[in-house]
Amino acid sequence: MVRYRLSNATLATGRPPIPQAYQWADAYQATHDRPLLDMSQGVPGVPPPQSFLEALGAAASSPGSCGYLPNVGEPSLRTVMAQEINIRYGPDADVTQDDIAITAGCNLAFVAAVTTLADSGDEVILPVPWYFNHEMTMTMLGIKPVLLHTFAKEGFLPSPERCAALITSKTKAVVLVSPNNPTGAVYPPSLIAAFAKLAHKYNIAFVLDETYRDFIINGVPHRLFSRPTTSLEGELPQDWEWRSTFIHLFSFSKSYCIPGHRVGLVCASPNVIPSLNKVLDNIQICAPRPPQIALATVVPSLRSFVRETAEAVAHRHKLFRERLPLRWKIGSQGGYYAFVRHPFAGVHANEVCKRLAQELGVITLPAGFFGPKREENATVMDEDRWIRFSVANVDDEKVEQVCQRLAESESEFGWNLD
Ligand SMILES: Cc1ncc(COP(=O)(O)O)c(C=O)c1O
Repeated sequence: MVRYRLSNATLATGRPPIPQAYQWADAYQATHDRPLLDMSQGVPGVPPPQSFLEALGAAASSPGSCGYLPNVGEPSLRTVMAQEINIRYGPDADVTQDDIAITAGCNLAFVAAVTTLADSGDEVILPVPWYFNHEMTMTMLGIKPVLLHTFAKEGFLPSPERCAALITSKTKAVVLVSPNNPTGAVYPPSLIAAFAKLAHKYNIAFVLDETYRDFIINGVPHRLFSRPTTSLEGELPQDWEWRSTFIHLFSFSKSYCIPGHRVGLVCASPNVIPSLNKVLDNIQICAPRPPQIALATVVPSLRSFVRETAEAVAHRHKLFRERLPLRWKIGSQGGYYAFVRHPFAGVHANEVCKRLAQELGVITLPAGFFGPKREENATVMDEDRWIRFSVANVDDEKVEQVCQRLAESESEFGWNLD
């Protein structure tokens, strides 16, 4: 017991859900032949590139990297990342180092962006299933998440028309994640352009978390950084200038396999950066310096590493698709994740994930972790039957083992199948 009171905002915020899944797995007796198989948290399945580790070692042992930095980060990394964005979204994407602020991870990039945009009592539109840290952040800040439901029959793609109907005078932003967490849905460039157009029309911000952008191996994620005359989509307003509306968030955790070093970025108008800077000054001062120095020297040489990692993950997605038992249905797949409907009639995915972890040693996350809390005894609906599998975590052999254990669950759990 403590004698002091906690803030209502933190009390109202849900607990981080991933530890719950690991707790289920505590009951599993792993053996050499039947190891625990973890497809829960989205973590890179391969180590970071050696050249990064060497550059980091040198940077970390230099007294010059021990001091504070400007809030928005190491200038050399800002320059390099502007260039990387122009290459990734090119050929004529227009981003400069003045548009970039380096943050201590993409979660912090989101906290900084949404704090800069919205006040307590304001509304921000958020698709469901949501990335739980987005919802938790907003709840903590007193910002109301307005839910834009997405549906399996639409491949979990959000609808700009339904979004338009949710906009009110209190709406400050719409936040999307593509490739999505948790559904894996990759939003087509034309859909992203339609949301940009909507945000432009209503003078609200369009925040796109592109943590998994490098796992799109065919084509560009979108064309928002270019002028509309060069847009392939033709969806953007004629006077489109990305800085007026768009905020891009990125994480170094997945593309460069360094989640523990906490590096992310916000790419936004230089007119917004001074306000963002005030938030950054309070919550991070600056992001960790040695990884920034190391990244600035190696990122341009890591394009093939990033590409090969993404191709390996795409291959694993294909393997997962091929090996998944027939009754388990993939609703969408991309980035790190596959969103899968389990085959047990009338059973909540929470229950299925719990037994998968406890009895069969497969850790996954149920859809219930990515949406509003539902009544304990509510009738199980289709939306309650989805499970997120992080295919990036494991190697090909483990993907096969997971699929084998899913097949076993059909007979072992004793539940009715569809
Ligand atoms: C959509 C999304 N945004 C942000 C993050 C967190 O990224 P970082 O490690 O850079 O904070 C994740 C991590 O899983 C994510 O899925």
